[in-house]
Amino acid sequence: MSAQPDQYGVVGHPVAHSWSPFIHGMFARQTGEQVVYRLHDVLPENFRGFVLDFFSRGGRGLNVTVPHKVAAFEIANELTPRAERAGAVNTLAIQRDNRLLGDNTDGAGLVHDLRDNLSVNLAGRRVLIVGAGGATRGVVAPLLVLRPAELVIANRTADRAQAFAADFQDLGTIHGCGFDELTDVSFDVVINATSASLAGEVPAIPPTVIRSDSLCYDMAYSKGDTPFLKWAKENGCTRAVQGWGMLVEQAAESFQLWRGVRPQTRPVLDALRERAITSS
Ligand code: ATR
Repeated sequence: MSAQPDQYGVVGHPVAHSWSPFIHGMFARQTGEQVVYRLHDVLPENFRGFVLDFFSRGGRGLNVTVPHKVAAFEIANELTPRAERAGAVNTLAIQRDNRLLGDNTDGAGLVHDLRDNLSVNLAGRRVLIVGAGGATRGVVAPLLVLRPAELVIANRTADRAQAFAADFQDLGTIHGCGFDELTDVSFDVVINATSASLAGEVPAIPPTVIRSDSLCYDMAYSKGDTPFLKWAKENGCTRAVQGWGMLVEQAAESFQLWRGVRPQTRPVLDALRERAITSS
């Protein structure tokens, strides 16, 4: 008789729309790993109890999504350096000594997508991140490792961007500002890390930040173009991409932490493209 598969899942609220079970299901089939991966919709006030119960019943790992990433950071017994730096955890893994390890694979997911899938070399390039919330926090350090000429964080509320830049000053050339400072400058890469698309909005940055050859990258994703992608294309950008690749790459990074094997992401991205991205 074969052993029970190891239990994994994603915890969030809401989480019903998540593609993670599909993605991890494909990873498991591809690698032959015996795992099951389920969705868990958990309210913030129940998060701690849920996590402790999940692992005490033998669960092996959880992905953590909105709004629990900071709570997961607080519950972890140990943190990887990248989770510590991000101040947020998107992956929990139980270790041999039963201590809970917290990791953050979001930044690595973005970097893999940019570098491996989109062949973008950030070294010496000018990069703009729009937004200074949780999504930005996870990706700043891994982006600075790639040595861009400058990383500018622009936020609707300028103080938040400035505070961010101060936090990461030791890792590279980084500057925080409000949208009004973005006049007369353009960037090689413009990343939308705001939650504006959730409200169907686009951050009010001047279109002059992009050139026709800039890469515009939306960390959000949807069927069809996100509002930011539409805005980028309307303003002449010929390379506008949304965050499906980042989603799959951060999942692969979590799978690797849990199972010690990094699955191939291309077939999963192709399958998602067929099911989620182009179907209506
Ligand atoms: P989370 O931690 O979930 O990312 P957050 O901390 O509220 O949530 O961050 C959301 C980010 O999106 C912030 O940078 C926010 O800008 P403010 O700091 O000025 O609030 C940004 N954001 C949300 N809606 C926006 C909009 N319509 N235009 C521009 N920026 C927006």
